[in-house]
Parts: sequence; structure tokens; C-alpha cells
Amino acid sequence: MTWLVEKKRTWAEWVVLRTLQVGPVPTHLAIIMDGNRRYARRQHQDTLTGHTQGFHKLAEMLSWCRDLGITHVTAYAFSIANFKRSKQEVDGLMELATEKFEELLKEQEKMDKHGVRVRVVGDLSLLPARTKQLAAQVTLATRNNTRCCLTLALAYSSRQEMTAAMEAMVEGVGQGHLLPSDISEELLEECLYTSSVKDPELVLRTSGEVRLSDFLLWQSGFSCLYFTEALWPDMTIWHLFGAIFYYQRHHHTLVAARQECLTQRQNAVEERDVDCCRAQHGDNVTQDHITEYTAARTARIAAFIDNLTHRRLTFLQELACSGDE
Ligand code: FPP
Ligand code: MG
Repeated sequence: MTWLVEKKRTWAEWVVLRTLQVGPVPTHLAIIMDGNRRYARRQHQDTLTGHTQGFHKLAEMLSWCRDLGITHVTAYAFSIANFKRSKQEVDGLMELATEKFEELLKEQEKMDKHGVRVRVVGDLSLLPARTKQLAAQVTLATRNNTRCCLTLALAYSSRQEMTAAMEAMVEGVGQGHLLPSDISEELLEECLYTSSVKDPELVLRTSGEVRLSDFLLWQSGFSCLYFTEALWPDMTIWHLFGAIFYYQRHHHTLVAARQECLTQRQNAVEERDVDCCRAQHGDNVTQDHITEYTAARTARIAAFIDNLTHRRLTFLQELACSGDE
């Protein structure tokens, strides 16, 4: 078993776990797994051993999340900036990912039984041929599982993700599928790689670094940020408990801030619809005009998003079959 760790919790762990579950527990946890190389150095091991330990910790973390009721985990496995590391380290990490994806496909029956979905997001075109093929296969093979979802950010950066979303919208306008006035925060969000999953309530970074390093910048605007000194391979369930407890202490203000943002966003869209109707009908604009305009805009955007989703799925399907001929 590599991806699914089934280890019994101790009595003390269950007590704390059940106590924390009385309060709000995030449904989506995002993780910046940092400190693998420092861990390896400290253990007098090579860098790749540190990353391999990091993978095992991720699998363990998933089992803790399952027990706590955290249904979505997004992990920063490899940033676009990480390509600047030595060839030996980059190749080693890509081989590790390739090997783990192969193992996952062999364990698929178990993944299905536990309802675990794994999807890989990022600029997959930057990955080596075999790694991206397997990343696509894993994403497709588990896409109907719904009990818990692991999103692996691989060759990922937020700026690239946002740029790709903007390119998709510009193309939509250029091809006449969207109007320039359709562009909104909500639409941009729907064009992100992560659109099908709601934003993380909690972002955790290990190893004492206190920055987001281009990870989920859009999605974490209203998330609770938790930083721990522990190196990623040293993480224990107790560190996770600490993060959840911290989240619970700030939950009230986090929810209020997020709600305020959503209300403002909704108001902005409604005002925009009225402005667009005014541009068409002048001062004679009626509620019927607005209702009709809003319905047409909603349908236009839904068709655009359907098409984008379909194109991304086709891209994955082609990638999954690439190299098979
Ligand atoms: C950051 O620590 C960690 C990484 C850049 C890689 C993380 C990858 C894994 C845990 C494995 C992922 C597995 C799959 C299947 C994709 P660091 O190298 O920056 O360590 P340092 O901060 O001590 O230098
Ligand atoms: Mg680091």
C-alpha cells in the first residue's frame, strides 16, 4: 500500500480527533510540503530520500484527513520554479512521481473502494512525456470517485494558472462566445484548474517558511494560513491537530470575511448587468430587460465553461493515450 495508509489511531489521538470534530473542521486543506531536503541532510541521507519520505508523509496525511472528515487536500508537489533545481533532483522527483502514479494505477481497485480521487493540476506540458501521460491517466482513472479528493499541484504556479485562465477568457471573447462584459471574478475563478473544488479553508506550510510561494494565490485570499516549524517528513498528526485548533480559533472572522467578499462580488455582477441593459435600452430599462439579460449572460457563460471543460478533458484523454501507438 503506498497511497492508502491504513494505520490505527491511538486512544489519545481518537480523543483529540473527536473533540476537534465538535467544532468546525475544514473540508479543504491545502499543503505546502516544505523541508524535505533539510530533513534528508539532517538524517545524512540524499535529497531524493527526503522527497520519498515526503511522499510517504503525504499518504499518511491523507489518512489523518480522512479520519478528521477533511474531504479535499491540495498538495504542492512541484512548482514551476522547482525546474530551476539541479537536473539530478528534478529528474529524481519526476521519476518518483512517475513511479508513484504507476503504483496508484495498480492500486486502482482500492482507490475506488475507498472513493479516492487523485487529480494532477498545473502546466502538464512542462512535464516529461511519461510523467504527464501517467498524470493524465491517474486523473482520468479516479475521476468518478467522490469520497475524498487529492489534488496534486505539479509543474504548478498560481501566476501560470491565472494567466491560462485569462487566455481562455480572451479566446472566448475573440471567438464571440463571451462578451467583454462577461469577464468577472466569478468567471476567472471558473477558468482556474481548481474550479471544481471550493477554496481551501486552511493552508498549511511546514519548515518554518512563511510565504505562499505562488501556490493557490487566488484561492487562498480568505483562507486561514498556518505555519509550523516542523519539516514536512517530520509532520505528525499532532501538528495537524494544532493547525485545526488554530483554524477553529479564527473560524468566525474567516467566515465573515469570505461572506463579505462573496456579497460584494454578487453585487458587482448585478450592477454590471444593469449597466449593460442601460447601454442597450437607455433610461427605458425595465426589470424584464434585466432578467432577460441576466438569463442570456448565464447561459452564455455556462456554454463557454462547458466547452472549456470539454476541451480540457479531451487534452487529458489525448495525453493519457500519447506514446501508446
Ligand atoms: C519541498 O521541500 C518539497 C518539494 C519541492 C517536493 C515535494 C514532493 C513530494 C513530497 C513528493 C510528491 C509526490 C508525488 C507523487 C508527486 P524542499 O525540497 O524545498 O526542502 P528544503 O526546504 O529543506 O530545501
Ligand atoms: Mg524548500
